[in-house]
Amino acid sequence: MSASDLLAAIPLFSKLSKRDLGQLARATHETDYETGTVLASAGEPGRFFFVIVEGEARVDVNGEPVRTLGPGDYFGEMALIDRRPRSATVTTTSPMRCLVLTQIEFRPFATEQPDVAWALLEAMVQRVRDIES
Ligand code: CMP
Repeated sequence: MSASDLLAAIPLFSKLSKRDLGQLARATHETDYETGTVLASAGEPGRFFFVIVEGEARVDVNGEPVRTLGPGDYFGEMALIDRRPRSATVTTTSPMRCLVLTQIEFRPFATEQPDVAWALLEAMVQRVRDIES
């Protein structure tokens, strides 16, 4: 499957035009990781945004697992949005394939695509609601 097709199947990017999907596909790097790879480390700087194509990862906040991520999920956006350290540690719990965007590629994409920015906001709102409930 092409990177464009993979991206089209990801809810975050589902409203993008074919042209924008193609542009995004050219900017992403498909990367494989082994089980146990730490892809984001709480308190450390972050330079990458990850979209999971295959496999699973665990999100730990303050050393406690809070969420399991799988195909179609993404992570690493927070440090790229506010340029502060990673908020959580994300570790692969199986072999994983991701589409990866660098900060330089992620920022203009998120700011130029209202549907992507809105989807990122919705996910962030959900996270706040989960914390408050
Ligand atoms: P970032 O802070 O850049 O790096 C760690 C990532 O883990 C973070 O971006 C989010 O993508 C993700 N993350 C942080 N907290 C949670 C949470 N409570 N639930 C799900 N994902 C989270």
